[in-house]
Amino acid sequence: MKLLKATQGAVREAAAVIRRGGLVAFPTETVYGLGADALNPQAVAKVFEAKNRPHFDPLIVHIARREGVRRLSSGADERALHLMDAFWPGPLTLVLPKKEVVPDLVTAGLPTVALRMPDHPVALDLIREADTPIAAPSANPFGCLSPTTAEHVRTQLGDKVDLILDGGACRVGLESTILDLSGEQAVLLRAGGVAVEDLERVIGRVETQTSDPARPRAPGQLPRHYSPQTPLVLLEDTTPPIPQKEKAGLLLFKARGHQEGMAAVEILSPGGDLQEAAARFFSCLHRLDQAGLDVIYAEPVPETGLGRAIMDRLRRAASRSAKAGRATGRS
Ligand code: TXA
Ligand code: MG
Repeated sequence: MKLLKATQGAVREAAAVIRRGGLVAFPTETVYGLGADALNPQAVAKVFEAKNRPHFDPLIVHIARREGVRRLSSGADERALHLMDAFWPGPLTLVLPKKEVVPDLVTAGLPTVALRMPDHPVALDLIREADTPIAAPSANPFGCLSPTTAEHVRTQLGDKVDLILDGGACRVGLESTILDLSGEQAVLLRAGGVAVEDLERVIGRVETQTSDPARPRAPGQLPRHYSPQTPLVLLEDTTPPIPQKEKAGLLLFKARGHQEGMAAVEILSPGGDLQEAAARFFSCLHRLDQAGLDVIYAEPVPETGLGRAIMDRLRRAASRSAKAGRATGRS
């Protein structure tokens, strides 16, 4: 890990780290972010690993120019444009329909992407210099306090980041406001640096996210998290069953011998690397889900590091499938 004062030279060095698929902690006006190339799933996987997140929370994608919106989202409407005029660059994150180029790992399989243009010269320079959008959660380990100085990042993440850019203390010190504009009604997902009243002055009424625990929209608890339509069975041991009549697919952690009778097989990481597995997880599931299968069998992965996040997603997908199976009479 390297900690550098955010001079022009340091920003250039940090941009090179991002382009190589590494991790850079950088200042924004809200909190320090832990950044990776948003278009590189392998790099994004490292973010989850460094944060030790037990599940894949979708990440905010940081952009430096308005073109970024057109590139990453298919649906910035009038409301979005007015809000960008009023509050960008600044502590407002807009959730919009995503385009294909945004990797599933960034959005945790959601059809939407969270976009923000930070109001900090170092953050903006870094994004421009790296010439790619930067996915960044707050640069703290899961469950810890958000960092507002480079020193916070150093003590909390240390060697898990390649480079920390020290741009002094964050001006806002509180995360961005997150507003979901993917539906007809604008919904506040997280209160933050821009007050709701100020948003409402621009686009009219904003609904506050439901507090109904059965329908959580809060970060990490999103009900629309991707889970396959096809029933998913998490295998108890590592010996896949031989399917009888059903058209079955198999999700393997690593490469193994010929799979008897399987209609489709996806391998998360041929060499058994958890980072690669995490980077490919959502796209492998997508492909199996679109293969017209009756069932997907999933091999467990080791529950260390990113493996915990993968198993968390697999267990959720499996339990949802079990419920759906009962409801529709399928078993
Ligand atoms: O101020 C901030 O927003 C900071 C700085 C670094 O920009 N970032 C930040 O990221 O707070 P993070 O990961 O700690 O919180 C972002 C939250 C996540 O908890 C996630 O659930 C939500 O944004 N989010 C991201 N994409 C989303 C999406 N497509 N739909 C709904 N929520 C989303
Ligand atoms: Mg956070």
